[in-house]
Amino acid sequence: MSLTWSAEICSPNRQVRLQFYVDNGNMTYRIFYKDKEIVRPSHLGLQLINWADLDGNFVPDTTITSSFSETWRPVWGEEDEILNSYNELAATVRQTTTNRRITVRFRVYDEGVGFRYELPRQQQLDNVWVKQEQTQFAMCGNHTAYWIPGDYDTSEYEYRTCRLTEIRQMMNDAITANACQSPFSPTGVQTSLLMKTDDGIYINIHEAALTDYSAMHLELNDTTLTLTSRLTPDSEGRMARMHCPAHTPWRTVIITDNARDMLASRMTLNLNEPCKIEDTSWIHPIKYVGVWWEMMSGAETWNYADYQHIDIEKTDYTKLPTTGRHAANNSNVMRYIDFAADNSFDAVLVEGWNKGWEDSWQKLDNYSFTQSYPDYDLKKLSRYAEEKGVKIIMHHETSASVLNYERQLDDAYRLAADNGCELIKSGYVGPIFPYGGHHFDQWMVDHYLHAVKRAADFRLMVNAHEAVRPTGLCRTYPNLLCNESARGQEFYATDGFGTQHTTILPFTRLMGGPMDFTPGLLESDLSKVNPENKNRISSTVCNQLALYIIMYSPLQMAADVPESYERYADAFQFIKDVPADWSQSHYVEADPGQYITVARREKNGERWFVGSITAVDRRKSRLELNFLKPGKEYTATIYCDAKDADNRQNQARYTIRKQRVTSKSVLTLTTVNGGGYAISIVPTD
Ligand code: NOJ
Ligand code: CA
Repeated sequence: MSLTWSAEICSPNRQVRLQFYVDNGNMTYRIFYKDKEIVRPSHLGLQLINWADLDGNFVPDTTITSSFSETWRPVWGEEDEILNSYNELAATVRQTTTNRRITVRFRVYDEGVGFRYELPRQQQLDNVWVKQEQTQFAMCGNHTAYWIPGDYDTSEYEYRTCRLTEIRQMMNDAITANACQSPFSPTGVQTSLLMKTDDGIYINIHEAALTDYSAMHLELNDTTLTLTSRLTPDSEGRMARMHCPAHTPWRTVIITDNARDMLASRMTLNLNEPCKIEDTSWIHPIKYVGVWWEMMSGAETWNYADYQHIDIEKTDYTKLPTTGRHAANNSNVMRYIDFAADNSFDAVLVEGWNKGWEDSWQKLDNYSFTQSYPDYDLKKLSRYAEEKGVKIIMHHETSASVLNYERQLDDAYRLAADNGCELIKSGYVGPIFPYGGHHFDQWMVDHYLHAVKRAADFRLMVNAHEAVRPTGLCRTYPNLLCNESARGQEFYATDGFGTQHTTILPFTRLMGGPMDFTPGLLESDLSKVNPENKNRISSTVCNQLALYIIMYSPLQMAADVPESYERYADAFQFIKDVPADWSQSHYVEADPGQYITVARREKNGERWFVGSITAVDRRKSRLELNFLKPGKEYTATIYCDAKDADNRQNQARYTIRKQRVTSKSVLTLTTVNGGGYAISIVPTD
């Protein structure tokens, strides 16, 4: 072995150490945390289609080190200020066979490392097609992994927990059905991937600032315990195109020795560029209700007509037989607007308002995003909403017919903006049309960002479902308020998910950005919404309340139907009270797959809100209120699972009590499997 050269750099607190070297002509890196090896010597390289690979035959060229530290204020978030502090190493190597240079830029934070490839324009490197990226993450042990199947089209899987070597045998069961899915390997997993070592160190692998490139997955070699990047191919099997000078997104390895610090990491946001929207005064968190659960549960329909073969331009809807259960009709939407106004929600989501839901088949002009159904009077409803101080959230289900959407995008956004709408919920159910591409390929990654940037021109915020999972881009474009991109509560309408899922999401999917998880399903018996639907929600009422704190998002839905909130009006009070924007967050307890407790202080205010969820076992949570202001008195309203609550039949057994508390108070609360507690803490005077 010829180790020709080595460069080393530490994090500002010297806890994380990164080595980069050229070993037998190969770019190699290695990461230590508190002097323990976390990433064994791991290979770096890019294989190209139209030029010689940038993989091997390298010699050292130059290294430049620097330091950076700043504090920035997010437009919305979990805290007022975020510290971005790192040491940087830009290591440039030269390929002897081609004389080309490539730089790997490393940023070393107190909680991990981000790195990316940078390709300067040069001889034999201008427009580049990437065949595959050979970035490796060699693990030091058979860690416990919290994972979902690698897939080029969907992230809507339930998280599984097992040893790295057990992934292969669990893969088949883990690949549950979806409208569009492309798993690629029996050991392929998605990022963000969480792992835990036997000595209690947490490792998260993901990416930051995914733009102009395809999404990265990981392929596990379960003999060597090495994870290798697997990019998402386009319709021709190409992984990415780069117009040099160009760079890849950041590859991230976050390392902490307790789970709470993992939740507190802002490394992914920090690796994204500062906000590019100059005037952000129109961007803000939103709490909403929606004409939604009644369709998800099957009680009502998105489509107006009971008929297929619609031609958007020619079909006269007034002449078609209706389903008789079309939910987005004038009187129902007005009922929702009233409900939102009466309970101080900002907005009402309306799905199924526009023509085309009858046959959302794969065709070019499947939906109109400007023409509403005959029983939906857009102008009248917008005026009504405005009078009541409520906004309408317009919904654009594209059925992944992306060209159709892009063609209509400006008109659709204009219509929304002209009618006082502030947020667009978009969706990409089904295979990408025109055929061939994938939800997470470069072209689609481009599309999602294009939609967000264009939306900003109309002062619109975006919540995209079925889009690529977030990588912190909301720092740069804070009007990207939210994404789905994971298995959310809508799955309770069908095959659901287990109680561990919500205790893993904050460590995985949420590391890249907020999720429209749609909490607040207080009625666990779906037959109360749709008598035909016999499913049950496997989470208690108090677990549902706690999710507003656990699943951080500036966009929070109260997902149930108004009748359920009337039935559980006392618990609903918490949903009405809880804010969606925070000045301070405190991670009290956390163990992925087991439990999470988080306390947050409202933006620019003195009220605190605490949420706690439990996955598997009944447990006692010890909550020290030492985050409260010393010497101040507060009233805590505590919503907690009752002793006889459970997550199968007795989800709605809960107690609500009030108690005077100070920073010296300690509460001990018992929660059940799939349960939790939620507390609002309000200054007494
Ligand atoms: C799937 C989305 O996730 C869901 O929220 C939406 O209601 C349906 N698609 C219909 O667009
Ligand atoms: Ca979905």
